Amino acid sequence: MSNDPKSRDEALAQLAWQVEAGIDEALEETPVMRYGPAASEQPDAQPEPRSAPHQPSPALAPPPDRPRQEPAAPVAADDARASAHALAQSARDLEALRAILQDFDGCALKATAMNLCLADGNPEARAMIIGEAPGADEDRQGKPFVGRAGQLLDKMIGAIGLTREQVYITNLLFWRPPGNRTPTPAETAVCLPFVERQIELVGPEVLIFAGGASAKTLLRTTTGIMRLRGRWARYEHEGLSQAIPALPTLHPAYLLRRPAEKRLAWRDLLTLKAFLDGKEQAQI
Ligand code: URA
Repeated sequence: MSNDPKSRDEALAQLAWQVEAGIDEALEETPVMRYGPAASEQPDAQPEPRSAPHQPSPALAPPPDRPRQEPAAPVAADDARASAHALAQSARDLEALRAILQDFDGCALKATAMNLCLADGNPEARAMIIGEAPGADEDRQGKPFVGRAGQLLDKMIGAIGLTREQVYITNLLFWRPPGNRTPTPAETAVCLPFVERQIELVGPEVLIFAGGASAKTLLRTTTGIMRLRGRWARYEHEGLSQAIPALPTLHPAYLLRRPAEKRLAWRDLLTLKAFLDGKEQAQI
């Protein structure tokens, strides 16, 4: 905000406008003036560095009474995707993949996220769970599924005798979308080569797609999760020597809102358990 004294109503209206735009978290100790001289030209206006990989604050869209600044020319989606693919394929192992993502600037979400949120659990696991995108807790801790949805996920896998250390957990996107907004197709597309490479490097026996975003993107379908869930699907992409059985199920965040649907997720979990126990073959 400017140094001009503002009436309380004006200040509240500006805050409400920011919240509506999805800006619901303070990322820096001090505000950053985006419309005057650059921060580097203001000796006292440098934000405190963060402990996480430091990124510039999100460019706040101007309030309605100010002219809109032209954004920097976006990287063409195809170029970004191609470069993401080449980088992802260059990763020899999961550690290298993480290092590449730490340096990767091709996904705009990185600019507003606190931390890279890549994966948790066991890279040797037989089952790999893929959710959608980190939320606020995941962003703070740099680990997927550690908030309320994650606690429910722990209980769900616990119900079939699995701990978090016995599965590998990741997301379609590795940085939190601001205000938990839906990721854009471009953001999803640019992260996809890294998801695919992760699947290649982990080489799980079974994939669990938690929620519609993950299931639809990875199965390249527009069919809704209610029709996909609980049915074995064939997951394949060019880097895999053979298809992997995939089981779409309901997202734990959805189950928190619709607890009555847990019975459906329970059925899916039993299907997964039967597969892992060698009692059921995946029909793919
Ligand atoms: N929802 C997701 O899809 N992933 C997380 O890591 C947390 C919540």
